[in-house]
Amino acid sequence: MARDARRWTTGDVSPVGYHEHVERARALYGRLVGVPADRVATGSQTSVFTGMVAAGLPDGAEVVVVEGDFSSLVYPFLVQAERPHPTREGGRITVRSVPRQELCTSLREETAAVVYSHSQSACGSLTAPDAVRRAAEAVGALTVCDVTQSAGWQAVDASLADVTVCSAYKWLCHPRGVAYMTVSERAMDALVPVNAGWYAGEVVWDSMYGPAMQLSSRASRFDVSPGWPLWPGAVAALEDFLQVPTGAVNAHDVALTNRLRAGLGLAPSDSAIVSLPMPPEAAQAAERAGLTLSQRAGGVRLSFHVWNTEQDVDRALEVLAPFAQRG
Ligand SMILES: Cc1ncc(COP(=O)(O)O)c(C=O)c1O
Repeated sequence: MARDARRWTTGDVSPVGYHEHVERARALYGRLVGVPADRVATGSQTSVFTGMVAAGLPDGAEVVVVEGDFSSLVYPFLVQAERPHPTREGGRITVRSVPRQELCTSLREETAAVVYSHSQSACGSLTAPDAVRRAAEAVGALTVCDVTQSAGWQAVDASLADVTVCSAYKWLCHPRGVAYMTVSERAMDALVPVNAGWYAGEVVWDSMYGPAMQLSSRASRFDVSPGWPLWPGAVAALEDFLQVPTGAVNAHDVALTNRLRAGLGLAPSDSAIVSLPMPPEAAQAAERAGLTLSQRAGGVRLSFHVWNTEQDVDRALEVLAPFAQRG
């Protein structure tokens, strides 16, 4: 990206060159999550893709979401629920929130879509996509899975959901502003490309002016045109991640998380994310010690990844243990 930025300053870059980066990233991401490139849409943010899914749901659809899931996954559906239904009382769609543990058992005949995170944002709890798929199949619902907090440290098989969305700036170490969506054959027909622009065309270079419109026959019909300078970074990150088995990253990340958990007297877990109910002063103390962690849902959240070492965990323990002892 730095090399590319230097070329940008001298005007020595071109849309055609960036397009090649986007297509390479599309193919590499598809390989990482187990779907062909023509089932991968490229874009900017999770909420842009979920907004597209929500806007395309038919009037009267019921959507089941998980309590406490990240708002970029949930708000687009709530926004559609606030719009009036065209012919009867109430919202255009209805949204029902359920506890994560009850997701599979809460689906019913009228459920059109079930929306959940593979790994929950605030605490890292995992939901099994094959279990949700089985439950959704029984009622004919579309499955929409956010893999933002899992792709990169947890094996992701995107073919287990009709739609997956991923903001790749987290565990896939992309620049902020790159997101991917995968689309099953069924979802290709069900989704409406409400953000279609020139990048959604069958041939992007022939799709610059209307009113003639030939949308892509591939998932690229859901593309949002790229923030060009980000995509060399996307390719570089994906090339790295494809060189290391996800199992090895998982073992590294989970071992570091469990080292912290053990130091705080907590049982081991299978997550790379740990959320601790601690006061804001804990986060402030960590910051003063040069550690970077998040304040989320009334506590601190630590997530260990490829750049972390056991020394990082031990420094975090030094800072956080006194807060844990105070309860
Ligand atoms: C599960 C999940 N999805 C998506 C995002 C980011 O969403 P967006 O790309 O809309 O900013 C986050 C950020 O924390 C997240 O935790």
